[in-house]
Amino acid sequence: MTPHIRAEKDQIAETVLMPGDPLRAKWAAETFLDGAELVNDVRGMLGFTGEWRGNRVTIHGSGMGMPSLSIYANELISRYGAKTLIRIGSCGAMQEHVKIRDVVLAMTATSVSTPSRAILRELNFAPCADWDLLKAAEAAARGRKDAQIHVGGIYSSDVFYDERPDLNEQLTRHNVLAVEMEAAELYLLAARHRCRALAVLTVSDHLVTHEALSADMRQSSFGDMVAIALEAAFA
Ligand code: ADE
Repeated sequence: MTPHIRAEKDQIAETVLMPGDPLRAKWAAETFLDGAELVNDVRGMLGFTGEWRGNRVTIHGSGMGMPSLSIYANELISRYGAKTLIRIGSCGAMQEHVKIRDVVLAMTATSVSTPSRAILRELNFAPCADWDLLKAAEAAARGRKDAQIHVGGIYSSDVFYDERPDLNEQLTRHNVLAVEMEAAELYLLAARHRCRALAVLTVSDHLVTHEALSADMRQSSFGDMVAIALEAAFA
């Protein structure tokens, strides 16, 4: 047990998928895993462990933003021995050619700040995805005929309601594909603890065209991400 996870040590798998929303963790576990068992519900943050094609997998919510993800990822890695952590979530597109519902595989994650800033201080560390996971996810995503895939840099923001249009303009200018709020800290923790990490994202809204994904489309694109993440984890 940890302050935020009530599971016994052997109830968490080495491979963990992390959606932001705990109810999405429940849906994904019930839809994709055999024998899914609830292993955490502290503060309503749900985690489930089951099997996918004979492989043990935990699907655990991360909450929104890097401070929340940092709590769960730290405990999953340090106390439960998680080795592969894949974020599955949504993002806002920052390039015109990246369309609503496209899949973005985050090769790198730029940030203004992360919870790790306190230890990195003046260092502009470059958080990046695990290469094997990234390659495998790209192959899995390209195998799904309806998904448009983009692989590149994203921006992990501390705010959803951004009051710095000039910053977003610079990110767009520097070819950043999309914005979300968790990947940079996940990649930093994975580097520190020698784990594998990746963020598989679906475009839910567009910062340039101002379009947004409908609720129905959100659910089906979430299912696509779960499938891509599972295939990549066990490639
Ligand atoms: N996640 C999805 N859309 C986002 C946005 N526009 N900003 C930050 N995080 C997001």
